Amino acid sequence: MKLGVLISGRGSNLEALLKAHAAGKLPAADFAIVVANDPQARGLDIARAHGIKTAAIAHRGFPGGRQAHDAAVARTLKEHGVEAVVLAGYMRIIGRAMLEAFPHRIVNIHPSLLPSFPGLHAQEQALAGGVRVSGCTVHFVDEGVDSGPIIVQKTVPVLDDDDAESLSARILVQEHLAIVEAVDLLSRGVLRIENRRVRRME
Ligand code: GAR
Repeated sequence: MKLGVLISGRGSNLEALLKAHAAGKLPAADFAIVVANDPQARGLDIARAHGIKTAAIAHRGFPGGRQAHDAAVARTLKEHGVEAVVLAGYMRIIGRAMLEAFPHRIVNIHPSLLPSFPGLHAQEQALAGGVRVSGCTVHFVDEGVDSGPIIVQKTVPVLDDDDAESLSARILVQEHLAIVEAVDLLSRGVLRIENRRVRRME
């Protein structure tokens, strides 16, 4: 399955995917292009180092605004034959053009156990909420914010002396496992959405 990956910054989840792919752990995945909404995103260098095509489509100052930018991203992905999209630290809300171009074919990784703590600063939200367990979620993207059907979740303990940095680092280790697991399932075509639940048909 031809995949496009959208990023905004560091790109460690992208790197986990590309390393897994190089190690033969994503046999059905073909990474067609990595697109960043920030031309300075460090993840673009990671993609280039792995020989993957890249594009930077800056949202800042994009003519026509948010929806036009979303449509330009969808067009670029389609031009590269992309069949499904992975949001790997993509800090933009997905618009109608993307949802229509890739129905039930966009997945996102989020650093909390959804539906708890959607949106920005999920790890800070978890600390402020006083939860003893947190983690990460890979889910299908729908019209809402971090609200679509859940594919994979992984948990970590929240320790008494945690701050946002230490909790984020513990969650990130699990993110790198979760995103590989979810993209493997997605690319092998074994996921089915029934009502709001994701089933594995294998
Ligand atoms: C990750 O923690 C990811 O879960 C989070 O941004 C970070 C990106 O790191 N995404 C969100 O918060 C999306 N709402 P990375 O660039 O090193 O993969």
